[in-house]
Amino acid sequence: MIVTGRHGQKFERNILELPAAVMAAFAAEEARLPQILFDVDGCAIGSDVEIHNPTIVIANNGPLRMASTARIDSFCKLEAGEGMTIGDYVHIASFVHLGIGGGITILEDGTSFASGSKVISGSNIPAPGRSCSATAPGNRVDKSFVWIQRDAVLFAGAIVCPGVTVGAEAVIAAGAIVLEDVPAGETWAGTPARMIG
Ligand SMILES: CC(C)(COP(=O)(O)OP(=O)(O)OC[C@H]1O[C@@H](n2cnc3c(N)ncnc32)[C@H](O)[C@@H]1OP(=O)(O)O)[C@@H](O)C(=O)NCCC(=O)NCCS
Repeated sequence: MIVTGRHGQKFERNILELPAAVMAAFAAEEARLPQILFDVDGCAIGSDVEIHNPTIVIANNGPLRMASTARIDSFCKLEAGEGMTIGDYVHIASFVHLGIGGGITILEDGTSFASGSKVISGSNIPAPGRSCSATAPGNRVDKSFVWIQRDAVLFAGAIVCPGVTVGAEAVIAAGAIVLEDVPAGETWAGTPARMIG
């Protein structure tokens, strides 16, 4: 799909075909969790969601569903993109950036994100003769997903890349870069991340 920027630039926006299991999980979470509205400063309206300013939530063009038992600390940025769900008792610590690249992000109940961890659900794709800059005409963004399953944790500074599922109760060690699916209950560390326990 080609979209037009505010200065007339043409961008190519490619929503990848996602696995049926991911779409089904997203639809179930979307139906289960309430929609939270935000004002221009990113404060939640009409709910008892706990969000510590300054935190920025960009949810104007995609569905964001968030349980009122979740908590987001200061200096975070959340991009709902094509859709984001945040389940019960999720804790997002300071300096976390979620939904980078604007795909689909599923954070199931009890998941937690230590300081500075990042979830990348889509990416600008550098191609020969094209700029990777988000503002350049012809820029291409591939929208994918990240699915963090029940009670999994990303420790400080960990990064999960597009197309990855982190299984229930998995532990991603501090500073890891996760490029492939992590099975439930395993501990992964390093760059690229590998199983350590
Ligand atoms: C995930 C974590 C808890 C793993 O702890 P653990 O299961 O006790 O693992 P161990 O300390 O026994 O280490 C096992 C192996 O993995 C390695 N390892 C552990 N953490 C690692 C990391 N973050 N990156 C790379 N390797 C790591 C160790 O060097 C060790 O390797 P070896 O067997 O070759 O000696 C820990 O590494 C971690 O990330 N701690 C930081 C937690 C954090 O961010 N807290 C802040 C928010 S609450």
